[in-house]
Amino acid sequence: MKVIIVEDKAAIGHTVGQMFVNAVKNNPKVIFGLATGSSPESTYQYLIEDYQTNHTDWSNVKTFNLDEYIGLEPTHPQSYRHFMNEKLFNHINIQKENTYVPSGVGDYVSLAKQYDQKIAEAGGIDLQLLGVGTNGHIGFNEPPADFDSLTGVVDLVEATFQANARFFDSINDVPKQAVSMGIKSILNARKIVLIADGEGKAEAIKHLVEGEISNLWPCTALQNHPDVTIVIDYKAASLLTKQ
Ligand code: GLP
Repeated sequence: MKVIIVEDKAAIGHTVGQMFVNAVKNNPKVIFGLATGSSPESTYQYLIEDYQTNHTDWSNVKTFNLDEYIGLEPTHPQSYRHFMNEKLFNHINIQKENTYVPSGVGDYVSLAKQYDQKIAEAGGIDLQLLGVGTNGHIGFNEPPADFDSLTGVVDLVEATFQANARFFDSINDVPKQAVSMGIKSILNARKIVLIADGEGKAEAIKHLVEGEISNLWPCTALQNHPDVTIVIDYKAASLLTKQ
C-alpha cells in the first residue's frame, strides 16, 4: 500500500486528478469506478478545470459509481446520480449513457444483482476512486462488513446517518438503506486510490494503514489488494506512527 500525504484537500484533488487525467490519456476507453461524498469534490473540480484548459477527451470513458441511496429518485438533490451530474458529468464531454450509478428506485434489487455483471462486461474497473467513512466504511459497506459481498442492498448505521445528516434537512431524512458495490466488487478493480481529509478520518486511516485486517473496519479489506494508493492530508494522517 502506497501512502501519499499532502497539505490539504486541494492538494489531494491535484494529485488524484492528475492520476485520472493520465489514465484517460493513456487509455481513452478507460473504465473508472467513482465515489461521492465531500472527499472527491476537489478531484472532480480538478478534472473539470483540466477539461476546460486541456480538453482531455472523455467521450469514450465509462464510469461506475459505488453506491446510491434507496428511495431517492435520480433527480433528488441528495441522490448520488444528481451529485455526479452536478459535480462532474455535466462539465466534461463524457456520454451520460456511459455513466452508471446504481438505481435506488424501481426494481433496484434485481438491478443491483446485475451491476457486477455489467462492470465485468464493460471490461472491469481500471481505476477505482474511494472515500472512507469515519467508521471505516467503503462504498456503503458498514461494519461488520462481509468481505465476499457483491453489489446489493445494505443497511446504513447510526454513524453514517450522523455523518451524512449535514446534506439533508434533518437526520430523519437520511435514507436508511442504500445499494452499494460490495467489498469483493471493489477489490475487483485493477487499481484503487483512496482519499481522505480531516481529523475525522484519522482513526479509519490508522486502521487502514497500520491496523489488522478486520471486518469491523471494512477499509482494512484493501490490505488484500495488490495496488492501492492512499492520498490523504496531514490531519487524516495524524494518527499514523510513521509519516
Ligand atoms: C459516504 C459514501 C462513501 C464515502 C463516505 C465518506 O456516505 N457512501 O462512498 O466515501 O461516506 O464521505 P465524505 O467524503 O463526505 O466524508
